[in-house]
Amino acid sequence: MSSPRKTVPGAAPEGAHDVDSAARAVREMFTSIAPRYDLLNHVLSLNIDRLWWRRTARTFTHILSQSDARVLDLCCGTGDMTFALSNQAHRSPQLLGADFSHAMLQRAQAKLLDQFSENPKTKAPRWIEADALKLPFPAERFDLVTSAFGFRNLADYNAGLREIARVLRPGGECGILDFSDPKGPFGVIYRIYFKRILPRVGTTISGVRGPYSYLPNSVERFPEPGEMLARMRAAGLREATWTPYTFGVAGLYRGKK
Ligand SMILES: C[S@@+](CC[C@H](N)C(=O)[O-])C[C@H]1O[C@@H](n2cnc3c(N)ncnc32)[C@H](O)[C@@H]1O
Repeated sequence: MSSPRKTVPGAAPEGAHDVDSAARAVREMFTSIAPRYDLLNHVLSLNIDRLWWRRTARTFTHILSQSDARVLDLCCGTGDMTFALSNQAHRSPQLLGADFSHAMLQRAQAKLLDQFSENPKTKAPRWIEADALKLPFPAERFDLVTSAFGFRNLADYNAGLREIARVLRPGGECGILDFSDPKGPFGVIYRIYFKRILPRVGTTISGVRGPYSYLPNSVERFPEPGEMLARMRAAGLREATWTPYTFGVAGLYRGKK
């Protein structure tokens, strides 16, 4: 059988041999860790993930402060990026979180009921179970599309970018927050943590073998910033930029249709 590196143009968990089997494996993996996903995220990132979501949301204040803005948070998982966007919204944009794992969306809804019962000022986000590669929306629907730590898991990166560009209105913006591979001496130390320690801790806490070895592999497979920016431009997203967060452990890609 040919290697998944050749046959899958995006994320390829172990055993995946084409786009459909890769997507299925990703969905099953997130569904299996959904109950412990939030805890693990915060432990493994030492809570820095919260700063990254907030910083990303702040970048788009100019859109989030428009009351009629339509915002889509792709691969929203348990909703933390979506909630950061909603906290940054001064008025009431229409905010939608989309994910293809029902179990992850159930956690997002449980958190929403906690957070929004006392805060009617901001319109609560709504959730939709949908595949980021086949979005059930008409073209030019959204002013802003974001994705935090989700895009890297798509089984076809170029198709994901084309779908983002399709649903953005002309002038609309996108923000893709994801892990990167930090360079220099810090990168050497970080890789020991990311490739050796994190998979062990993740496997122990989640009780599920697989997802936390997949994580460093998926970052290794993900295009470097220069290549990702070229892919964004090819998909019709101009003014493409990448801003490293925390020494390049993560970073935000931005583009405009
Ligand atoms: C690492 S989690 C990120 C969740 C959240 N955005 C966060 O920052 O914590 C990745 C999410 O992407 C979702 N995902 C992966 N591929 C997807 C696809 N093709 N369509 C929709 N969701 C997808 C998974 O189900 C999972 O919930």
